[in-house]
Amino acid sequence: MQNEKASRTALVIAASLVLLHRDPKHSGLVSKPSADLCAQMLEMYSSQTRLFLKIVRQDWFRPVARLIERITIPGILLHYILRKKCIAGLVRSALINGATQVVIVGAGFDPLSFELHQDFRDAQFWEIDHPATQRHKLRAFPKIGVARLHFVALDLNATALDKEALIKSSFDPTQRTCWIAEGLLMYLRADIVSSLMRALKSLSAPGSHFAFTFMEKQSDGRIRFDSQSKLVDSWLRRRGEPFLWGSTRGELVDLLRPWRVIRFFDHDDLREMESGLTNESIARGEVICLAEI
Ligand SMILES: C[S@@+](CC[C@H](N)C(=O)[O-])C[C@H]1O[C@@H](n2cnc3c(N)ncnc32)[C@H](O)[C@@H]1O
Repeated sequence: MQNEKASRTALVIAASLVLLHRDPKHSGLVSKPSADLCAQMLEMYSSQTRLFLKIVRQDWFRPVARLIERITIPGILLHYILRKKCIAGLVRSALINGATQVVIVGAGFDPLSFELHQDFRDAQFWEIDHPATQRHKLRAFPKIGVARLHFVALDLNATALDKEALIKSSFDPTQRTCWIAEGLLMYLRADIVSSLMRALKSLSAPGSHFAFTFMEKQSDGRIRFDSQSKLVDSWLRRRGEPFLWGSTRGELVDLLRPWRVIRFFDHDDLREMESGLTNESIARGEVICLAEI
């Protein structure tokens, strides 16, 4: 991450939600409130993203976006949207089954906590993110002052997850928590990922869940989407967001202990979540893991 600028990938994901919500073929996959929150983020971030938002909303841009997708990571837009849908489902189910706290690490411009805090009025929500990203989210939503929604700014490369900051903002480690790290761990070094897993363990009451995504290491050890072009490798490097960490499913089971893996969801599982996607391309390489302690 570049220290002053918000995560570029978080902005790309926000634009993807707006784009797919306007696509008649896929609009049902993104709720209107989610698309509106992402649009507001792009509106407020900078004059460039405001202009980009205008472009993304034009019908003529859809084929252009499809072309850009084809030469960068085919199927990435559907991957983002289905990944979000899958994780939202896992969190909702954890909340229905007794979790009372949700902590989203590396929340970016994801509208999930804004949506969930309205639907689960007895639960508390935290967003932990790099200060350079979180600052912009708070600036875009100055009126978000809900007592049950807490924001903790933290650069995980510089400081380990700050238990004190969470506890100070009324986090209770004796309550069941659902932790989320979506599209985050691949940007961290392996030692930081291990330290984060240890910190989450020490803050989790039995019955807590951890839903996160990881890049599945390729057979040659490379960490990337299967179809990712060299263009994307260099864009991520230039933006200060290269992929640093990936894992195999086997390695992950060991790394996570005492968390117990409940299930992995890959591109095939995401495809099965929705009907009508049989012939659609969905990027493969990033897998969702649901674990329990
Ligand atoms: C690809 S975005 C994902 C955002 C969101 N979770 C989503 O899926 O829409 C990556 C997120 O990780 C955060 N991040 C990257 N490096 C970080 C660090 N060192 N400390 C804290 N957050 C970091 C970025 O600020 C950004 O919000």
